[in-house]
Amino acid sequence: MSQTCSQANPHDEAHRQMEQAVLEKRMDGIRQKILVMSGKGGVGKSTVAVRLAVGLAEAGWSVGLLDVDIHGPSVPQLIGLQGREVITDHQAMQPVKVHDRLKVMSIGFLVSSPRDAVIWRGPMKYNIIRQFLKDVDWGSLDYLVVDSPPGTGDEPLAVAQLVGKPAMALLVTTPQELAVNDVRRSVSFCRAVDLPVLGIVENMSGYACPSCGHHVDIFKTGGGEALAAEMEVGFLGKVPLDSNIVAQGDAGHPLTDRPEPRASEQGFRQIVETVLERTRAGRVVLNVLNG
Ligand SMILES: Nc1ncnc2c1ncn2[C@@H]1O[C@H](COP(=O)(O)OP(=O)(O)OP(=O)(O)O)[C@@H](O)[C@H]1O
Ligand SMILES: [Mg+2]
Repeated sequence: MSQTCSQANPHDEAHRQMEQAVLEKRMDGIRQKILVMSGKGGVGKSTVAVRLAVGLAEAGWSVGLLDVDIHGPSVPQLIGLQGREVITDHQAMQPVKVHDRLKVMSIGFLVSSPRDAVIWRGPMKYNIIRQFLKDVDWGSLDYLVVDSPPGTGDEPLAVAQLVGKPAMALLVTTPQELAVNDVRRSVSFCRAVDLPVLGIVENMSGYACPSCGHHVDIFKTGGGEALAAEMEVGFLGKVPLDSNIVAQGDAGHPLTDRPEPRASEQGFRQIVETVLERTRAGRVVLNVLNG
């Protein structure tokens, strides 16, 4: 057998170690990473990720929002940043700034048209996610919220392996048994890759009438809460079906400062508050408030 097959090139190894050191330094500047995921597609992961990032930033924290849904990036659309370009200087990519406390990066900023399909296999996806974490100039952040595609494939696996600690998963489900079953698999994935579960969100949880606020359980609700109890993980809250969420997402205006909050807005606020309470940064806030 050829010796060269089993011997690492010392230059490659030195380069790999240097890159790893850069990644670790970058990740050290982020106090908490939250990976939003679900075994199921279309349950509202991107919506929850955007609303969580916006809500945490509104609460005064410095937040990054990273979209690793390589094949279907929806964050630029949901947050109204379509067509924005990423500037690169000194080998670092500058994230797109929404305002001083909220910065965004997505593969959607790098493809020339939202209609272009990205056809990449696992190793390429791993490399671009690594680059997003290592080469994006996030600066110092309290939270990095990561939106992932459905399932437990290459993208969430890459994030779980690369972000370092502390990192946690926020799992989104809808109430139906089919979605809940897929999210049960997501909990197993998190356990297998040693990623603590911050909690479960039940989205599209019944319907709140936009005029009178009357709540109708279209599907049997409570599946997310029951799953959280069964898997012994936290429950972060529910958000009902609300046509306003679709309108805001399509228009790219994730507004949360409505004078008379709707049930869905209250749901998102509750989730942000619970996340704050359950994470390190939140405990700092509570300590400050409690003197
Ligand atoms: N609570 C809700 N009420 C009504 N519509 C919602 C709600 N949550 C999300 N939506 C809408 O459902 C659609 C899918 O949401 P979203 O893109 O966030 O799901 P996803 O889980 O990220 O999908 P994918 O698996 O394709 O990444 C969007 O049009 C969004 O506006
Ligand atoms: Mg999505």
